[in-house]
Amino acid sequence: MKSEKLVQAINDQIQAELYSAYLYLAMSLYCESENYKGFAHWLKKQYEEETSHAMKFMAHLSERGATVALQKIEAPAAKFGTPVELFAEVLKHEQYVTSRIHALYALAQQEKDYAAEIMLQWFVKEQVEEEASAAEILAMLKMAGDNKGAIFFINGELGKR
Ligand code: FEO
Repeated sequence: MKSEKLVQAINDQIQAELYSAYLYLAMSLYCESENYKGFAHWLKKQYEEETSHAMKFMAHLSERGATVALQKIEAPAAKFGTPVELFAEVLKHEQYVTSRIHALYALAQQEKDYAAEIMLQWFVKEQVEEEASAAEILAMLKMAGDNKGAIFFINGELGKR
């Protein structure tokens, strides 16, 4: 890869994806401890997905002869409040990731790196899905309100992922 700036930015994104994985793992463990097994399952799948996102970026750098430089990952929180609060945080986090992907895409265009641009198109689409599923779960939980039966129904549905 010619652009060192882009290599650095992709390495930063690898760190961000691994942090996302770490965050969802912490959320999964929290839900497990709160007896929301379905939410825990959904978040664990999300943890795996984020790990695969990081791997995709690593593969792109490797295939193009650039160096993957792993960075420090911050520890996430251990408690995340109510299911509504937790999924509001998931949505906010995905919106943040989307803004990062868009900035990365703009940088690839600026650096005229067409291969990176095409690779990033997958992520642009993926973020639409990521935000949509988080928004849908949050909306369902808000509808459920204080109805414990409804919350456990949603918990069960997410357990089927
Ligand atoms: Fe890798 Fe959820 O964005």
